[in-house]
Amino acid sequence: MARYEIVGGAQLNGSVTISGAKNAAVAILPAALLVNGVCRIENVPDISDVRILVEILRGLGAEVTQPETDVIIIDARNIHTTEPEAALVKKMRASYYLMGALLGRFGNCHVALPGGCSFATRPIDQHIKGFKALGANVEETEEYVALNPGENGLAGNRVCLDMASVGATANIMMAGVLLEGQTIIENAAKEPHIVDLANFLNTMGAHISGAGTDTVKIRGVQSLQGGTYTIIPDQIEAGTYMAAVAAAGGNVLVKNVIPKHMDCITSKLEEMGAEVTAYDDAIRIRSTGKLTATTVKTRPYPGFPTDMQAQICVCMTLAEGLSRLTESVYETRFFGYCTELESMGAKINIVGKTAEVTGREKLKGTTVIARDLRAGAALVIAGLCAEGTTKVENIHFVERGYQNIVEKLTSLGATIRRVDD
Ligand code: UD1
Repeated sequence: MARYEIVGGAQLNGSVTISGAKNAAVAILPAALLVNGVCRIENVPDISDVRILVEILRGLGAEVTQPETDVIIIDARNIHTTEPEAALVKKMRASYYLMGALLGRFGNCHVALPGGCSFATRPIDQHIKGFKALGANVEETEEYVALNPGENGLAGNRVCLDMASVGATANIMMAGVLLEGQTIIENAAKEPHIVDLANFLNTMGAHISGAGTDTVKIRGVQSLQGGTYTIIPDQIEAGTYMAAVAAAGGNVLVKNVIPKHMDCITSKLEEMGAEVTAYDDAIRIRSTGKLTATTVKTRPYPGFPTDMQAQICVCMTLAEGLSRLTESVYETRFFGYCTELESMGAKINIVGKTAEVTGREKLKGTTVIARDLRAGAALVIAGLCAEGTTKVENIHFVERGYQNIVEKLTSLGATIRRVDD
């Protein structure tokens, strides 16, 4: 099994270029199934989740080529099945987007229930509620979901989500884009990748308005044509490098970011003592050598993202004073990494939904296990800060979402290598 070996203590300096957003890519690639033409998608991150999706799309009959590392061309005109290969689907959580995309284009699908990061029970009842509202007949077992048109066929409708679910918003958007009539999603998620998906679909000819607000309106069109689209930069990858600089020290220009998407993360890191300067499409972060305790509560966008919880926690383990980190999206997320950080010397006390973190002078290197993507990224940051060598096991989780993390950190001066025994 592959692992990272990190010798801690080096400051990070120089510049790093952020890749395309994972969570946008894993929605936009399936969304290309809705398009009766050729989609050229640029700024696609080179990560394992994307590679799995490409295999899934090929298995359905799509022609997929990759003329450059970050460019994927998808021609979904000759899809011959609406049942993606279960073994591949189970490898990633976001394969649930195949449901909305296949239902939207072909009116039916049979999709295995997804795998992915297991930091919490991750229900899809809101996705199902949406599909039903659009007229689908839903057969749901422990193994798969099968969708077919119900008695009255499929048509646009109003869906009010119980919670602002990212996955359900994107799935209903995809399912509704080619349906007759108007689909309205109330209490929609506002994350940047929801806006990116809407922009992609609109570029291909869809009529979606309101993405980025809590009401998304989709006026059905007859078909989508091909086109070219560039995925937004990854908010969480950028935030991860920023947290790494705040924790390990240094001065780094983080390039290819949308500073507005980073506001909530930036303000917390500033509060903790880092200096941040935003430019048009880059952010400079400079450590002042000292971190102070803070309070963070994760929230849907534009709040502090749950996907940055673990990384900011590492900063808190080294910040002077008592920090409080409250999780309000996925309550069990702390269990993915807090014990590992404690084995490195961190002092963390979990009380309900809150981790109380007492800052320490240092962490010490040891062997730790990544249990999900962002937990793994946090352990890498902890390794960069720790005395001695940290071995991070189970790095396939990290490689689901971080392109060239070893190369990027090495170019900033870190001592990290990937070992594959
Ligand atoms: C997406 C992101 C993930 C991020 C999360 C929250 C992708 C591919 N993944 O995940 O990285 O951590 O948003 O920002 O974009 N819920 C239900 N029923 C549902 C759907 C969700 O109860 O049908 C609950 C979830 O358990 C969770 C909350 O709603 O507590 C938010 O989940 P959601 O926004 O759907 O997250 P994901 O789309 O799974």
